Order: sequence, then C-alpha cells, then structure tokens
Amino acid sequence: MKPINVGIVGIGRIAAALEKDKKRYKPCTHLGSLVALKKEGKPIKLVAACDIREEAFFNIPTEFQSAKKYFSWQEMMNHHDDMDLLVIASDTYTHYEILKKALQRNIPKIVVEKPVCLLPKEAKKLKKVYARSTSKVWVHYERRYRKAYRQLKDILQTSSYTSFRGLLVLPQQNLFRTGKKEGALLHDTTHLLDLCFYLFGDLVRKKQVVSQNACRYFLEFEKASGILETILHKKLFHFELEVLTEKTRYRIGNGFSNQEAVVESPLYENFFSLKEAELFTHENFTQEDNPYLNLYRNVIHENLEQEGWRKTPPTLEKVGGNLSQPSRYKDVPPSRTKLKIWCGMRAKSGFAGFLRLSLAGHGCSGQASLERDSFLDALENVLVLSR
Ligand SMILES: NC(=O)c1ccc[n+]([C@@H]2O[C@H](COP(=O)([O-])OP(=O)(O)OC[C@H]3O[C@@H](n4cnc5c(N)ncnc54)[C@H](O)[C@@H]3O)[C@@H](O)[C@H]2O)c1
Repeated sequence: MKPINVGIVGIGRIAAALEKDKKRYKPCTHLGSLVALKKEGKPIKLVAACDIREEAFFNIPTEFQSAKKYFSWQEMMNHHDDMDLLVIASDTYTHYEILKKALQRNIPKIVVEKPVCLLPKEAKKLKKVYARSTSKVWVHYERRYRKAYRQLKDILQTSSYTSFRGLLVLPQQNLFRTGKKEGALLHDTTHLLDLCFYLFGDLVRKKQVVSQNACRYFLEFEKASGILETILHKKLFHFELEVLTEKTRYRIGNGFSNQEAVVESPLYENFFSLKEAELFTHENFTQEDNPYLNLYRNVIHENLEQEGWRKTPPTLEKVGGNLSQPSRYKDVPPSRTKLKIWCGMRAKSGFAGFLRLSLAGHGCSGQASLERDSFLDALENVLVLSR
C-alpha cells in the first residue's frame, strides 16, 4: 500500500503533548491520532516535522521518530514535495503564512488548527488563495466529528422550530486579540460558532453586546436563532450548546449530552414543561467515537477508498457518488454548498436544479444533503468575531 506521507509544523500541546494528560480521552492530539490510525493498519508515515524549539521534537511519538526534523517550515516545504498531508499545529499567528504557502503549493490535504488566522484581511486573502488551489483543507474544529453533535444535526434536519444558546465560561483574561494572542473569542468561541454553522446553516444577522468580562452574540442563522455567551471566569471552564426544538431540549457540552422532553406540565393545566434530563446519546470516546480519530479518518478516507492520492477536480458524478460519504465540495460556491438537496424535489437555485438532474441521472433517490465547506465556515468565524 502506498504510504500517506505526513508533515507537521508545530509540535506542542495539541500536536502531541496533551496525550500525557491522564484525564483526557485518547487520542486527543494530531500525532496521537495518526499513531492510532497507523496501529489500525493505515499506511501513515511522518516524513517531516518542524518546530522552532529543539525540545519540542521530544514530543514526537516513538512510532514517528524517523521523521526528518526542521527548524524552518519554509525549508521543510522546499525539501518535501512528497507530502500528501500537512498538519499545521503551530501558534495561531503563524497559521496564515504557512497555510497560504501550503495552498499555493497545492499540498493535497491540509489539516490546520483553529482559529485559521487572526485578522479579517487574512481570512479574505485565504479565501481567494483557496479558490485557486487544489488543496483540501480541514480545520481542526473536532467537535463536528463528535457523535452527539452529528446525531443532533440529523434530528434538526426534520425539526420545524429551533433556538439555541451556547455558553462558554473560560479561565482566560482577554476576550479580544492582543498582539499575537487571539483572545477567548477567536480561540474558543469559534468552536461554538463552528457548531452553529454546522448545525444551522448560514448566518443571516448578528448583534454583539460586550461588557467587561463577557461577550454576547445575538445570532440569526437560516435554521435557528439564539445567543452565544462567552464569560471570563477565575477558574471555571465550561462549554455547552443548548438547542430547543418543538419536542425536546438538547444540552451537549464537554463531558455531557442530555435531552429533556417537552411534556404535559405537572404544575399547570394546558401547559407543557420539560421532563427531567436523560442521556441523549451514549458516547464512550473509544476508538469508534473519538472525534479526533473521526476527523483524521475523514481526511485519509479517499486515499484508502479511491484510486490515487492526488486530488483530481471533483466532477458532478463524484459529488453524486459521494453523497453518503463525508466529503468536501470546495469547487462548489460556498453560498450554495449549504443547500439541502432533495433529489427529485424542488430546486432552490439553478445550480441545485442542475445538480438535481445530475443526481437523478446517477440513480440517487430520497433525501441527500451536501456537507458544508468547513474551511469556509472557519474563515467566516474569523470574519464574524473580528468585525
Ligand atoms: N482544536 C483544539 O481543540 C485546540 C486545542 C488546543 C490548541 N489549539 C490550537 O493549536 C495551536 C497550537 O496550540 P498549542 O496549545 O498546541 O500551543 P503550543 O505552544 O503548545 O504549541 C505550539 C508549537 O508551535 C511551535 N511554533 C511556533 N512558531 C512556529 C513556527 N514559526 N514554526 C514551527 N513551529 C512553531 C512552538 O514552538 C510550539 O512548540 C493554536 O492555534 C491553538 O489555537 C486547538
């Protein structure tokens, strides 16, 4: 089997060192995930690793110690035309330059840490470079790959009424960017915003209210409206997304996933209230449920399932053929990728009509939905929270 050659820039906590945290589920890092997939039999080879700190190289797992080491990512890229996958896990302020160059070099697959960049002008430039590149990009908002959020997304496909409330409490000092540091909103609130894009479609309207230790965004998406609240706290770290539909309130966060059914009220005639919370979905975060692994399974999926490794421009046939698989549609304009397509049913645009016909021609029937382009969502995060 042809090896999947991987390069990594930045070998700190999220690249590898967090595997030493005894309380976290495992794997919980980039190299930890790649080692786990290698042990599953995937032909993964770390060919190059780069950091500006010598001691960082000690974080590389023994399985990948043969990787060539670099102190400069430019030098690493120049020496490695053989890279199939580049992982960018260095400090946020470095992402922009590294990612821009990787896109210009058309490295076939790129996993970049969040937030993708620091400034709106960088996000806009990356959108342009991305449009011309043949690279595929995954941003490491790994919650999209968590079972509970994915199941919730399925449920929301058929829910008529939806509102949400995201709550993030953080032991951090700054909401906004200061110099090279991104601040809590870009660093953490983008995780919540990414879930909103994933679950609710495009953003239609927003309003921001900032106080000394908190920031609230009142947001209206295509499929839901609600609030994202970020609160700075001395020591508490809490992450949750609450979604209310006609029948149920879901609360999914770090360490829990609950649901409360809307039932006849035991207190008032003709009223309804919420039943006591029960488990929404069982997740044990073993190899099968692990969101980090699921993201990387998605990244390397094509290598193992399809011929060849270099990206060929996706065709409509390919789009149609992949509807049941998690896939990327970077050549489809972002405003249209969000369209949910009912094959053989009404089309919302000329493009959807075109695609509908194409899918019909390929024998697809029933409901299918195109996965949004998470990289463009991630760039949108930066634009929304930095404006
Ligand atoms: N997805 C998540 O849940 C998650 C969690 C933690 C961190 N992150 C993100 O991951 C990134 C790294 O965070 P971290 O906590 O691992 O930080 P870290 O400081 O532990 O690691 C960053 C590493 O990058 C190296 N580095 C800095 N500049 C470099 C350069 N020019 N070339 C090569 N290496 C360079 C540093 O020396 C360091 O080893 C940040 O963007 C952060 O937002 C994401």
